[in-house]
Amino acid sequence: MDDEKLKTTELVLTAEIYNNTGELQVDDLPSDIRKHYWDNKEGTVKRPINIKAKDLTELYNIKNPVEIAKSLPFLVYEEFGTQLKLTVFDLGVKWFAKQEQGSEHIKHNPVLAHFYEKSQSLDVSYEEASKKNEPKEVSRQWIDSLILKISGEKDSEDVLKLAHIMVPDEIEQTLDRLVLNQDQKDEVEKMVKAIQFREYLTKIGLIEIGKLLFVGPPGTGKTSTAKAMSGKLKVPFVEVKLSMITDQYLGETAKNIDRVFELAKGLSPCILFIDEFDFIAKTRSSDEHAALKRAVNTLLKAIDNISLVKHGVLLICATNHPQLLDSAAWRRFDDIVDFPLPDEEMRQKILEFVMSEIDGTFNIAEIASMTDGYSGSDLRMVIREAVLNALMVDRFALAQEDLVRAVGEFNKRNAFNYMPKDET
Ligand SMILES: Nc1ncnc2c1ncn2[C@@H]1O[C@H](COP(=O)(O)OP(=O)(O)OP(=O)(O)O)[C@@H](O)[C@H]1O
Ligand SMILES: [Mg+2]
Repeated sequence: MDDEKLKTTELVLTAEIYNNTGELQVDDLPSDIRKHYWDNKEGTVKRPINIKAKDLTELYNIKNPVEIAKSLPFLVYEEFGTQLKLTVFDLGVKWFAKQEQGSEHIKHNPVLAHFYEKSQSLDVSYEEASKKNEPKEVSRQWIDSLILKISGEKDSEDVLKLAHIMVPDEIEQTLDRLVLNQDQKDEVEKMVKAIQFREYLTKIGLIEIGKLLFVGPPGTGKTSTAKAMSGKLKVPFVEVKLSMITDQYLGETAKNIDRVFELAKGLSPCILFIDEFDFIAKTRSSDEHAALKRAVNTLLKAIDNISLVKHGVLLICATNHPQLLDSAAWRRFDDIVDFPLPDEEMRQKILEFVMSEIDGTFNIAEIASMTDGYSGSDLRMVIREAVLNALMVDRFALAQEDLVRAVGEFNKRNAFNYMPKDET
């Protein structure tokens, strides 16, 4: 009951203060309240926020909101309609600050912190509360509003086919579950800092930063690392698959590439990830379609014109075939990050992560030593096979021989799949 009173009052005060304080932004609303009152079409929370009984039920699972309101002397339900109103604002303000958990709530609510810090000289900080509060860019709703906006525009569907957007809330991959070497870790850390201290970099004029090329064989963690960086930075992840270009009506492609870059700028700060970057090399052969060439030129120009410092877009391209790229492509990146096949030590660490929740008696070091040439993704596949084989006989615990057999099967299948071809 006390908790429900507290939450009800917090919501009413937050709405009242937000409604009447022009300088507060939608990002200042606590993320749960912001999500609840989000107006998809407007792409924001419209003022005024009105509070209905059902809001309290939906937001906080309060079963009897009317009873709660009646028990608080500064709240009333308007007779007609179900709207909850503050009668004596000052009383509500004082009551809330006096509650045992009151100041804790204020410290996490930028709207309240802003008010109490200024008008009540309470020992809370708007700045601190803002840091703790999730920004709107983290949630799906924000992205959906943006998508709605572009889908109102002509031919916008093609843009959304070319680019897939994920918000940090949807990214499960985390950096601490990826096994990276020191170079890779350093590069990730540098970019995290570059995004964090963007204003400083702008000030000192250091703008040649934030265009990376991830190079390495399939399954070595390029996509995962880029995604995990989004998760860590809490910024959206815009993924472009260049092979989609050929699926589209080519005349429109150049325009759509520009739109994807505009979209990324609109989502800023964000990570723009362009996979299969070697695709651009295909168009170098002279008999290629002229429209495709135009699309690639547009892409290269867009890459030249985008900047982490200026637009807040970290560009990461990835390729399995660096040998296909010419110097014009290479020089557009200010850092190349190598994703080699994992060495024995890294393989052991990857296996330890993958198997951390699996029961049984096995020797991971031995499996690491017999899987030379395996990628991180190959290792996952081997473990998956071993687990599934054991499940076929309703067994949950794995033994060493399960793993060894799975490695053997993997080798056999690979020898079959990758019979020497006429590749040079
Ligand atoms: N270094 C690593 N540490 C932990 N897991 C890894 C590592 N490398 C790859 N994996 C796992 O392998 C899977 C595939 O990785 P990912 O998709 O990131 O590879 P990729 O380099 O983007 O491959 P591709 O070139 O085929 O796109 C993921 O599930 C990932 O977790
Ligand atoms: Mg990938």
